[in-house]
Amino acid sequence: MSSTADIERAAALLRRGGLVAFPTETVYGLGADATNESALGRLYEVKRRPRDHPVIVHLGSAAWIDDWADSVSALARELASVFWPGPLTLILPASRRVSRQATGGLDTVGLRVPAHDLARDLIERVDRGLAAPSANRFGRVSPTTAAAVVRDLGRDVDLVLDGGACAVGVESTVLDCTDSVPRILRPGAVTHAMLAGVTGREIAIGGGTTRAPGTHASHYAPAARVEVVTAAEIAGRATELADAGCRVGVLGIESDLAGVRFAPAVIRLAAVATVDAYAGVLYAAMRRADDLDLDTVLAVAPELSGIGIAIADRLGRAAAGR
Ligand code: TXA
Ligand code: MG
Repeated sequence: MSSTADIERAAALLRRGGLVAFPTETVYGLGADATNESALGRLYEVKRRPRDHPVIVHLGSAAWIDDWADSVSALARELASVFWPGPLTLILPASRRVSRQATGGLDTVGLRVPAHDLARDLIERVDRGLAAPSANRFGRVSPTTAAAVVRDLGRDVDLVLDGGACAVGVESTVLDCTDSVPRILRPGAVTHAMLAGVTGREIAIGGGTTRAPGTHASHYAPAARVEVVTAAEIAGRATELADAGCRVGVLGIESDLAGVRFAPAVIRLAAVATVDAYAGVLYAAMRRADDLDLDTVLAVAPELSGIGIAIADRLGRAAAGR
């Protein structure tokens, strides 16, 4: 775990234009000063991320919102006050302060306040917004531990802060607030039901005309092939693949896997008790599949409620990957 001295050193590095990976409640982010053009240039290079893919700017508190966004609607303010700090990114008109590198050239910006003490301590010490995409190379699995960041990005970053494993495990909900009807561009732990419940308003899902990179198919993918199956299908499919000489790993809710008799060669990557725990282990399980050089990951589709929607979304993209 990182100490206060590490956090202070990280803040100094960021103020000088460095790149620092830090934990959030969702996944680890790769941070850069959102007002520093050369730091942002390096951020895109290290991630190997196309320049037109916007990154999220992380704020120290909801009180900073008007420094980083213009004409913030009453609805966006309400959502920020209810869900920040937390796993909700609001897309708003960008203020002049935000570098257009961070927005991928758009006039809108994604803002969120992470619910992680270390992250907020860091951002407050730097005293400006931190552009922070997930701390992985473009298109790959997001890291949920400091060790995963080091393995993926290694020497390309100036410092990796360690705040333990991320509590949520999948990236924040991205909500476009620039239209009259807010629209979920990426599902996460803050669900449609929560957003609709708090606002009493219609909330649209997906589609729309907004360009939202990172929401296209083929993303969040390990090197192993991912197949999403039902609990009823997994035994048959695992046997079929194992018989064909494939190295197979399985992943899902314990109650879906408990009664299944797998061939001895089949590896249980994770069998979790709840859908929240499923989100927590999803990316670590995919990384483990690659460490074990597996050919295929068979993942049992979660129930489509709560964070299960976000898990199904990421599994679907991982499955489309190869
Ligand atoms: O949980 C998270 O959101 C993590 C942690 C580190 O905070 N960050 C993260 O960042 O997942 P990244 O860059 O991997 O994903 C950012 C997402 C992308 O889907 C991107 O398209 C969307 O946010 N986004 C950011 N700014 C946007 C904008 N102005 N308009 C539309 N989409 C935007
Ligand atoms: Mg990402």
